[in-house]
Amino acid sequence: MRVIESISEMQQAAESWRREGTRIGLVPTMGYLHEGHLALAKKARELADIVVVSIFVNPTQFGPGEDFERYPQDMERDIGLLTEMGVDITFAPRASEMYTPDYQTYVEVRQLTQPLCGASRPGHFIGVTSVVAKLFNIVKPHVSVFGEKDFQQLVTIQRMVDDLNMDVEVVGHPIVREPDGLAMSSRNTYLNKQERQTALRLNRSLQQAEQQVAAGERRVEAILESVRNCLEEGGGLRIDYAELRNPVTLGEVSRVEGPTLLAMAAYVGKARLIDNCLLIPPGSP
Ligand code: PAJ
Repeated sequence: MRVIESISEMQQAAESWRREGTRIGLVPTMGYLHEGHLALAKKARELADIVVVSIFVNPTQFGPGEDFERYPQDMERDIGLLTEMGVDITFAPRASEMYTPDYQTYVEVRQLTQPLCGASRPGHFIGVTSVVAKLFNIVKPHVSVFGEKDFQQLVTIQRMVDDLNMDVEVVGHPIVREPDGLAMSSRNTYLNKQERQTALRLNRSLQQAEQQVAAGERRVEAILESVRNCLEEGGGLRIDYAELRNPVTLGEVSRVEGPTLLAMAAYVGKARLIDNCLLIPPGSP
């Protein structure tokens, strides 16, 4: 596996693969890799000839007071995992080259980034779409894989690619979970043993909502009330949001009639955790 730090070296390599007709797959990450990230790389392996995993803790997507300074990092371990997996390139640019002192260009997707995480993290998605646009221009992928764990991020990137006519296929990958159901996240490392147990309530509340819908419940408030009860019971968790939304537009829904996104974010100790699922009423298209 080759590690590339320089933007021009990455662009030149990408350009020569493209000239040879080699398909490039990109998995953008912020590193501190886990099985979720590796599953995306495996998917990219199926879809492309050359797999590039980028590792860059992107400063512009963190708000003031968020965890940019303490975001976990272990480049050596990450490179070991990617080598083992048969990834071709780790692209790990330096922040000083990604954001030069005179940097001033941002990409904004409007409506899709207003609710959910966008409401509690102002500016976050502008940082995400801008850095992903940059990565697409540098790595020139034919296909790029994103996790459904960050559902709003996935639909936002899909929108950006359509709106700006970027010639990249965006592919979603299902959430990868620990054996006990916790969605894998680099931020799980912030949790102590007790918080780790508390964090299981996120997935549990999703499962409970799925059961409610399977049993015929269609009322938004009834579902959200049980979700909130499940999350808060026992304390040690503060809900940021728990909402039901149309999975395409992320607009509000009045009842769960078709496939509906249940998305949540909650603080457990120092960690802000997110999780989601699609609620699919039996018999819906
Ligand atoms: P990061 O949080 O490192 O996630 C990188 C990719 O892995 C994202 O597409 C995310 O959705 C996916 N992912 C994380 N945990 C997952 C899990 N448990 N199951 C499936 N996929 C999972 O998301 C980012 O970085 C950044 O915002 C980035 C897109 C790299 C831009 O900076």
